[in-house]
Amino acid sequence: MTRYMRQDPELTRRKFINVAMGTTVGVGALSLLSIVGGVKPADTLTPEKRLPAKGDVLVYADAAKNGAPVALADIKEGQVVYAFPKGKVGGADVVKNGLARNQLIIAKFAEGQIKAPTDLAGTDQGIVVYSRQCMHLGCAVEVKAYPSKNLQEAAVCPCHGGVYDMTQGARVADGPPPAPLAQIPIKVIGGQVVAQGTFLSLPYDITEAEFASQKKELEKA
Ligand code: FES
Repeated sequence: MTRYMRQDPELTRRKFINVAMGTTVGVGALSLLSIVGGVKPADTLTPEKRLPAKGDVLVYADAAKNGAPVALADIKEGQVVYAFPKGKVGGADVVKNGLARNQLIIAKFAEGQIKAPTDLAGTDQGIVVYSRQCMHLGCAVEVKAYPSKNLQEAAVCPCHGGVYDMTQGARVADGPPPAPLAQIPIKVIGGQVVAQGTFLSLPYDITEAEFASQKKELEKA
């Protein structure tokens, strides 16, 4: 299983507060509002920070595998593979590994184990895919058993104990996260896992307005 460097949420929060305070003093409340409520259109983002999109192939997050597509045969029941989406941005192939929310968990479950509220149409051959970034303060979750909630395979956050049930739409089973992990609809095509769209719900660290705006850009592409 690939190890992953997590963000320090305290540092991120402190940095945000420092920036916000400095901006208020130096430039005034209007500028602060633009930081808090502004919409970052997709074309201002570098390609590797774009949202996953329909047609993106999921590739190993493990640097040693050098962006190779995750093979169906490598996804075993009871194990997970960590991946990034790889797709065309402006005509070039890009691994979208520039933001933590784009690191994905590919999990495989036995027939019939995946249940609502998972978007079942977005699963294929027992495979379901979620963002790996915790919805509380953005740490990277680890997939393991969580016996106290009777979960064989849960996404568990090492920072404050958030627990997500990956068989039920990554619903919050324990701890402080305010929302489920964001699912990505996929299909298995030619032995590879291919995104059929972007996140089905708001992932971490993006506003509703930014998400809507970036989704609109994807539709135009
Ligand atoms: S960052 Fe707090 S529970 Fe995940």
